[in-house]
Amino acid sequence: MTKIIDGKKIASEIRSELKNKVENAKIKSGKIPGLVTILVGDNPASKVYVRMKGKACEEVGMLSTTEILPANISEKDLLDLVEQYNNDERYHGILVQLPLPKHIDEDKVIEKISPDKDVDGFHPVSVGKLVIGKDTFEPCTPAGILELLSRSNIKTKGKHVVVVGRSNIVGKPVANMLLQKKEGANAIVTVCHSAAKNISTYTKSADILIAAIGQPNFITAEMVKDNVVVIDVGINRVEAPGTKKGYSLVGDVDFNSVYEKASFITPVPGGVGPMTIAMLLKNTFKSFSNKILTKTE
Ligand code: GUN
Repeated sequence: MTKIIDGKKIASEIRSELKNKVENAKIKSGKIPGLVTILVGDNPASKVYVRMKGKACEEVGMLSTTEILPANISEKDLLDLVEQYNNDERYHGILVQLPLPKHIDEDKVIEKISPDKDVDGFHPVSVGKLVIGKDTFEPCTPAGILELLSRSNIKTKGKHVVVVGRSNIVGKPVANMLLQKKEGANAIVTVCHSAAKNISTYTKSADILIAAIGQPNFITAEMVKDNVVVIDVGINRVEAPGTKKGYSLVGDVDFNSVYEKASFITPVPGGVGPMTIAMLLKNTFKSFSNKILTKTE
């Protein structure tokens, strides 16, 4: 029988573990972890994510600040603001919500964030450490995927993981993390993408399929084998006339048909999404712990 991996429940368990850690750390050090989230412009999806991140931070007892900046802010002003937070000891994590408006160079902004506050794990220093298997901030969505697998007792060692999508945020890092020689990884990893002539050739051989392409219902039942484990990273807005919002959220996987064949599957919403935020909190606590707790021990 197919099992639904309940990301909402697992994320909530992680948040309560973190809440306890934050309380204990506060008693021990008199300090709390802090995260600043910077949003430029008014992309509706980004606004929702940023609000959710701030709320989740407060719920576990962390300090949370959201900077909302106009879409026409200059690159220099944004870089200066990041620098200001690099030097502000109350904040252990800095997150600049992507995408940024076209006139701002995203790479420059990411590189401006101090690597020791890079809770998104996007800085080239963090990426480099990740690839060579050194301790670093793991990007939140890939970290959430590994956590979902391990907390669902799904073994990855020696399994064929097929990642569909090669973004810097999900595809590339999750592939790198899963091939590391360590507990919860050690998989045989294939990454496929839009240049594949027949993507089914790859997806059909997956023991674990990670879909991160950003195309609604792209993966269908014919593209997977029986008993596959399916992790759906997509969050696509599709028109839903007559509903209150006018849209509904669907994943990159055609849930209803793939469900019949899978041994495990994540739903959308309620699968990977909540884990991304839980991992952001975990990284913020890690940064705080690196800076504060190690000093008071
Ligand atoms: N945009 C979409 N996902 C993310 C994320 O994980 N972090 C940031 N900073 N921006 C995003």
